[in-house]
Amino acid sequence: MDDLASLGLRLKAAISEAADLDQLEKARLAALGRKGRITELMKGLGAMDAAARKDAGVTLNALKNEIAAAIEARKAELEDGTLDARLLDERVDVTLPARPGQCGHIHPISQTVDEVVAIFGEMGFTVAEGPDIEDDWYNFTALNIPPEHPARQEHDTFYLPGERDGQRAVLRTHTSPVQIRAMQAGAPPHRLIVPGRTYRCDYDATHSPMFHQVEGLVVDETTHFGHLKGCLIEFCRAFFGVDDLPVRFRPSYFPFTEPSAEVDIGCTRQGGGFRIGHGDDWLEILGCGMVNPKVLENCGVDSTRYQGFAFGMGLERIAMLKYGIPDLRTFFESDLRWLRHYGFASLDVPSLVGGLGS
Ligand code: DAH
Repeated sequence: MDDLASLGLRLKAAISEAADLDQLEKARLAALGRKGRITELMKGLGAMDAAARKDAGVTLNALKNEIAAAIEARKAELEDGTLDARLLDERVDVTLPARPGQCGHIHPISQTVDEVVAIFGEMGFTVAEGPDIEDDWYNFTALNIPPEHPARQEHDTFYLPGERDGQRAVLRTHTSPVQIRAMQAGAPPHRLIVPGRTYRCDYDATHSPMFHQVEGLVVDETTHFGHLKGCLIEFCRAFFGVDDLPVRFRPSYFPFTEPSAEVDIGCTRQGGGFRIGHGDDWLEILGCGMVNPKVLENCGVDSTRYQGFAFGMGLERIAMLKYGIPDLRTFFESDLRWLRHYGFASLDVPSLVGGLGS
């Protein structure tokens, strides 16, 4: 057994001296491989008498396990070391300045989403998302737009083949169905915005079959129309960067809000020009209202206890107004000259402190 002890020491030394995974594999083969020292000794057990075999078997097995464990431990060490060496080798100095002449740009829609998120984020809103493929119930019925309701025609819906849970599948015509999903997913209070893609069968200078909206939803026990007004006036002024921007709430109708309003901002259109701010004209930019109690009930929210407001606006529309982009279709043509002209520097992340874009 003295022999075995010194064999064990020699094998372990070879393992701990292995400088890389190849050498470790050689040490493993020399010990436990088909012709390895321990394997050979195991084969020898058969020739011993029963009593001796039992003793030697136990000792040999223990040694075999010890060697296997030492190999695993050394392997883990070497792998860590390989990783450390690679990390060191591939290190990137993040403090280096950006390369001059960078040619990538942030698309105006991404920039606008970032700006909207920065403003509402500051007011304590979180960002929620929902699926682009919705079913009839979420897109219409739950929002108090029953079948045959005229609002369904106005939406020029893309219907998809097939059904889900007995409901027709549609490409969502607005981001409002995410209000329903958010209210189903958790109990009030809610304070969220939903930027996302929406779809309608329409195509001209101010419509594209795929476009973007941002939805907003606030639900709690005390929120009232005054909060809705304050929040949206603040948003319009911050987004367009005009501190005293006139903002007007005009009574309107949406099935999912009661009462409902459309929001106009002040502008001038003199001498063929167009400017946002004090002037003699108004421009509609979003829809809003107090969440209809029927919508709350459709989501299992007690409308005698909770109330809130919602709003929705087209992102291309507010981007076009802010950045003077005349045709909505150009957003999706991937024309590099357009992107260079209207795009934004990639490191210029919008924030209320650092600025929200020129
Ligand atoms: N979903 C409406 C649309 O696409 C926009 C809208 C209006 C959303 C009023 C709202 C709202 O949440 O309260 O035309």
